[in-house]
Amino acid sequence: MDPIEKRIVRVFRPSLVVLCGPAACGKSTFAARHFRPTQVISSDSCRALVCDDERDQRYPLQTFALVNYLVSQRLSINRLCVVDSTALTPDARKTLLALGRKFRVRVELFLFDIPFEKCLDFDRKRERSVGPKVIEEHFQIFGTARASVGSEGFDQVLELHEDDLEKIQIEILYRPIYRVRQEWPGGNRHSLAVHATNPGPRS
Ligand SMILES: Nc1ncnc2c1ncn2[C@@H]1O[C@H](COP(=O)(O)OP(=O)(O)OP(=O)(O)O)[C@@H](O)[C@H]1O
Ligand SMILES: [Mg+2]
Repeated sequence: MDPIEKRIVRVFRPSLVVLCGPAACGKSTFAARHFRPTQVISSDSCRALVCDDERDQRYPLQTFALVNYLVSQRLSINRLCVVDSTALTPDARKTLLALGRKFRVRVELFLFDIPFEKCLDFDRKRERSVGPKVIEEHFQIFGTARASVGSEGFDQVLELHEDDLEKIQIEILYRPIYRVRQEWPGGNRHSLAVHATNPGPRS
């Protein structure tokens, strides 16, 4: 059998990679396969940290405040961030793009262009299924997203199709960005986020 021909994708460290796609298209699986767990900032994990249940959709403000906070802290010390959320709305993408710009890193959108039937199939087979209605709604919004992401200001929009899920090979290239090091008052040598408010030495 022929080995699968790889499609090599280069990602810089630091940079911000935004995954975008409907429920059950394979974003989290892809992220787990190609990145370290600490590089992936998942909205589901943040939701669970905020309210104890990753399926509880009642606290988007708190959930995404945490997503954005983690992204900021990591970018402030030149770490790679892969945001694993649907990123279906223009506002969601705009916020992440603005964070990337603030920390002067490349912001890349990985667009999961996976057929509807495939997502339904993935969803049926998983434990935490969301059901066809949610996936259908997501596909409608995704159609709009797909048409507009090209002009939203991302440094690159990478379209991932079904066969790419097995073909992609990610290469991470280190390209540091010089940042002014901030100090705790009193001279402790901790590195702080560029725009963080100092919560005090015991926090
Ligand atoms: N390349 C793949 N090959 C086989 N199965 C896959 C693949 N990608 C994802 N799956 C399966 O499909 C299901 C959905 O994938 P996953 O949870 O990664 O989707 P998701 O886009 O993160 O969904 P959500 O937006 O709901 O978090 C999982 O059970 C996973 O095992
Ligand atoms: Mg997921």
